[in-house]
Formats: sequence, C-alpha cells, structure tokens
Amino acid sequence: MINDYIEKNKDKFLEELLDLLRIPSVSADPAYAKDVVKTADFVAASLTKAGADKVQLCQTAGYPIVYGEKLIDPSLPTVLVYGHYDVQPADPVELWDSPPYEPVIKKTDIHPEGAIFARGACDDKGQMYMHVKAFETMMETNSLPCNVKFMIEGEEEVGSENLGIFVAANHEKLACDVILISDTGVIANDIPSICTGLRGLSYVEVEVTGPNRDLHSGLYGGAVPNPINVLCEMIATLKNQDKHITIPGFYDDVRVLGQEERDEMAKAPFNLSEYKKSIGLKDVEGEAGFTTNERNSVRPTLDVNGIWGGYIGEGAKTVIASKAYAKISMRLVPNQSSEKITEKFQKHFESIAPPSVSVKVTPHHGGEAAVTPTDTPEYRAASMAMETTYGKKPIPQPSGGSIPIVALFEKELNVKTVLMGFGLDSDAIHSPNEHYGLFNYFQGIKTIPLYFQNYAELKK
Ligand code: BES
Ligand code: MN
Ligand code: MN
Repeated sequence: MINDYIEKNKDKFLEELLDLLRIPSVSADPAYAKDVVKTADFVAASLTKAGADKVQLCQTAGYPIVYGEKLIDPSLPTVLVYGHYDVQPADPVELWDSPPYEPVIKKTDIHPEGAIFARGACDDKGQMYMHVKAFETMMETNSLPCNVKFMIEGEEEVGSENLGIFVAANHEKLACDVILISDTGVIANDIPSICTGLRGLSYVEVEVTGPNRDLHSGLYGGAVPNPINVLCEMIATLKNQDKHITIPGFYDDVRVLGQEERDEMAKAPFNLSEYKKSIGLKDVEGEAGFTTNERNSVRPTLDVNGIWGGYIGEGAKTVIASKAYAKISMRLVPNQSSEKITEKFQKHFESIAPPSVSVKVTPHHGGEAAVTPTDTPEYRAASMAMETTYGKKPIPQPSGGSIPIVALFEKELNVKTVLMGFGLDSDAIHSPNEHYGLFNYFQGIKTIPLYFQNYAELKK
C-alpha cells in the first residue's frame, strides 16, 4: 500500500522538491532574506497539505522555525523530525556546470538512474523533504503508527543559535521520545550505514595588524613586520610535525579511543586509493598514529578556511599590507567544550604574536560533538528499516561533520537522536555541483515509514 502510493506519486514528489530547490534560501547572506522566508512558507504549506496540524512559523531573532504535528494518540510514542531548509552559499558560482537554483537531473557514474543538481539538493532540502513526503504517504494510506512532530529550521548553516533559544523555551511543545534526522549520509548506495557520531565545532576569525597603513614594499620592506607573513608564521606553528595541534590543553578533554572501537571502525569498507582518486589527491596527510577514517571523524582538527589580505588584483602591486585575516575552524570530539577550546585558541594565538604586531581573535558560532547510542529501540528501528530497503544491515559509523542541535537536544530535552541520512560523500554538499541521487531520495521516502512502523512496534 505504502509502496504503491510512493510509486504512483514519484513524479509529483520530484516536481515538488525541484520547486523547493528553486528558492535560494542562503541563510549566511542577507541579500537572500526574502527567499529564506519564502522557503519557510513553502515548507509550512507542504506540511499542511500533507496533513499536519498546528502548522506555524515560529518567529525567532533570525529566520523562522517551521513547526507542525500530528498527534494521534497520547499513549503512542512521538517522533520529532528535525531538518533544515536553509542552504550554503552557492559560490563560486562559475564552477557550477548548471545554475545552482535551476535544478537539473543528470546521470553520473555513481548515480546511473540520475541525480538532482542544485544547491541544497542533498543538504538538506532533499533529505528534509523526504520526511514530508513520507508523512504524506502515511497519512494518505492511513498508516501513521505513532505521533509525529516536525521542526524544520532555517539557520543550521549559520550555527543554529536561535534554535537553541527556541528549544530551551519550548520543552513541552517539543516533548518527544526520539529525534529523527536525515542530514547525514551512507557509505555507498550498496553499503548502508547509520551515522553514530558528529563532531563539535569552534570557529574563529583572526586579524593581524602591523603598520598603520599599507606601505611601499621597497621603501619599508625588510625593516617592518608584514602582517601576512606574520599570520602565516603563526598559523604554521599551530601544528607540529606529527600534525598534532600545539595549543596548550587542546587535547585535555579528548576521549581516548578504545581498541575495540578502533577495530570496529577499521572493519568498515574503505579504499584509500579510491578515496584519494575521488578528490584528486596524490596522497593524504593527517595526525600521526591515526587512520584516515579516524582522522576525519573521531579526532579533533584545526583548519584554515580562508585567508586574505594585501593586493590580490590583476598584475603586481608592491605593497606591505597593514592587516591580514584568516578564518579558522576546529572540529571537536566528545567531551571537548567548544567554549573552552575557543578560549584556549584565543589565549594561545595572542601569546604567540610577535611584539611588532597586534592580534584580534573574534569567535564565531560553535557547537558540541555528539554520539548516538546503537543499543536502543530508537536505533534498532532505523537499522531494521534500512535493512529492509537496502537488503543489508547498515553499519554504524561516526561522521566528521557537525549538527550542533544534536548535543543541544540531548542537553535540553534529554532525548537521543537517530541520524538516518541518505546522502553520499560524493554528493558535493557545500561545493559546486551539489547533487542528490533520485535513488537516494526515493529510498529515503520508502525507508522512513518503515522506521515509524518499527519504532511503534518496538515500543509496544
Ligand atoms: N548536514 C551537514 C552536516 C553533516 C553532513 C554531518 C554530512 C554529517 C555528514 C550540516 O548541514 C552542516 O554542514 N553543518 C556544518 C556546521 C554548522 C555549524 C555550520 C558543518 O559541519 O560544517
Ligand atoms: Mn545539513
Ligand atoms: Mn550543511
């Protein structure tokens, strides 16, 4: 019945998602403010049409949170679905093969049945909308087996600060037994997995100031500090030869990986040469003593995300800039506190500045790491659902990305999350030519109702 409904409505489900992808909901850029709100309206209308009650735009100091619910019986468990309708900026737009907000479907090696190319196709409009369509399917086929609440936000890509305030103020409204999120991925379309961990984040911007104005690099060069050189030298000392981070106390709270956990992780299918090939690298690098999969998921990092200053126009200009800047992210692991790490960074960075320059560190958003348990009915419901649709039991696997709300939900609501995502690492989220497989989209729509069924059954 459920699959019949999905089969019959495939074209409609796809067309609606394409319409959603046409609205450029870039939360980071105020130029798109109207479009972000338009997207919230779109999501609210789609929830109402699918059969949700009490659909509303909950206003915040930033973009609205879309809420909706279908409460069928207070004695049944409640699943809260979280997702985000905002997207990352599309730039550099010139690197896209088709315009980012004009979705097109193209076949690729990994997606022979076709994939939707558009900003947000996978992260997270496509994955969020699977839940709306799965809900519609359950409503239309009279098969919703428990209560459901939706909370779809518009500021995930900028740190979810207002969502934190909203959750803290609305414990009762958001009361639930499990939070279900599709905003992560699987290892491959024939290797299902469930995300069991996310990293935290500490993000800072630094400014190094030297002379009080840009100087002629001939007249002054050699005798004065060049803030760009100084910034590079400072950044270079933040890691040692083993690629360990040198900020004092950075590793203090890092949970030591157990051998069992490492063995378990090493069992997951992974091919280093394919990994290198897929991103065009001759070799990988990272912290000594850890594997690539450990480095990119359960170990903390420090990376420069952007660096600028001085003359970057056409030709050559002989100048020593007055200022240099960088944006730096640190991915954190369980037990590290993003606030403490930001403080440690700030103190250290100021301490290593030579006396000839001044340094300013400005913290941006942060978030805490999260681990999701695998020995619960909440997880088992997801594992069984994916085993049914993929024909294979999903592998539990931590991811290196961040979804700040997961730790926050646990702290505020004392509820655990299940991260049942359907994207692929190769889907290019946050990059030019982001895409989402048609297979993945419909696989999600088929798997979600099974999650609800299994969960209701297991909680009886
Ligand atoms: N959906 C991603 C996070 C993600 C992707 C986790 C794939 C695991 C697998 C999310 O939208 C995201 O991009 N988060 C940001 C954090 C935020 C604070 C800007 C990130 O990880 O950079
Ligand atoms: Mn996302
Ligand atoms: Mn994202």
